[in-house]
Amino acid sequence: MLERLRQEFCELYGADGDIRAYFAPGRVNLIGEHTDYNGGHVFPCALTLGTYAVARPREDRVLRFYSMNFESFGVIESSLDDLIPSQEASWTNYPKGVMWAFEKKGMKLEHGLDIAICGDIPNGSGLSSSASLEVLTGVILKDLFGFDVSMVDIALIGQYSENNFNGCNCGIMDQFASAMGKKDHAIFLDTNTLDYKYAPVMLHDAKIVITNSKVKHSLVDSAYNDRRNESEKALEELKTVVDIQTLGDLTEEQFEAHKDAIKDEVRKKRAKHAVYENQRTIRAQEALKDNDILLFGQLMNASHESLKNDYEVSCEEIDILVDLAWKVEGVIGSRITGGGFGGCTVSIVKNEAVDTFTRTLETEYMKKVGHKPEFYIVDVGEGARKLS
Ligand code: GLA
Repeated sequence: MLERLRQEFCELYGADGDIRAYFAPGRVNLIGEHTDYNGGHVFPCALTLGTYAVARPREDRVLRFYSMNFESFGVIESSLDDLIPSQEASWTNYPKGVMWAFEKKGMKLEHGLDIAICGDIPNGSGLSSSASLEVLTGVILKDLFGFDVSMVDIALIGQYSENNFNGCNCGIMDQFASAMGKKDHAIFLDTNTLDYKYAPVMLHDAKIVITNSKVKHSLVDSAYNDRRNESEKALEELKTVVDIQTLGDLTEEQFEAHKDAIKDEVRKKRAKHAVYENQRTIRAQEALKDNDILLFGQLMNASHESLKNDYEVSCEEIDILVDLAWKVEGVIGSRITGGGFGGCTVSIVKNEAVDTFTRTLETEYMKKVGHKPEFYIVDVGEGARKLS
């Protein structure tokens, strides 16, 4: 893929000058969903799927962007003097947002860039194609401008740009996983403190399988922002009766003792999910350490129930995939992964059951939904980096 991208870059922009290549991965979250803006824990890992870029500095202030995934858009041209979001800018709002955020943080971009990108994360699948593009841009800027910025800062700047330039009030999980991923490890991240630990993911007799429902429901960003607002309101109500900073500070017992401070049943369910999911994530990380993969699977299943019933971010197609998965012998756990309202499920499947799993889900999902899902067997990869 990188060779084709280089060729494309040279054909579009010419082969001279200092041409460099970069990569930033997508992520799959094993457990800990919608906890990252609630001060809880998450447990994602970086994929080997991701976004590649080839880039070169320019002498003027022009920005040229090209994506092999959106060929019909051709080269989208802009300028460092025009770092404002717009509909015409389409996908380039993500890299432009990161450039805007670098400048906001005092890192001035003194010259423009030619950039070509190409990715193998299916768009809108909940595997963080946009976070990977943000982190990728951060790595390009760090390298080409020589900025003294850490990978954690690049993740934070990516999140800042998504919140303030692109209008999605996301947490830090996706950008953190893309920036900080480590081969064969998941990241156990406390989103309140940004303390993190790498946990080996060596399942020996099982595989992590992602199933793409290939549906994405509309209004995802606004529904996401609604959930965030509901959780924040519930936190404010709880703070009137208990001394906490985030929902992640509460155990299940403490939540049950104080939940009546939340004056609305929907908000109560949202907060319940945030509290219980955080505790499940802490337990799941311990279970993985203890090699108790069965417990890990049960926690994944409980996470799905909670996302479906209490947080209400699943959808019919995803529930069909999860229900089908739960019935296949050799499936240890299965749940929705990512922001929700479509996208993907993540399942842990015994090696000998993987074929039956994909065959059954493909046939039955096709019957019920009318199109086939897609499967990816996960290889846990490294975080974002310069390639050459
Ligand atoms: C999206 C957001 C993340 C996180 C997940 C849900 O992927 O970008 O910050 O909130 O949804 O866990």
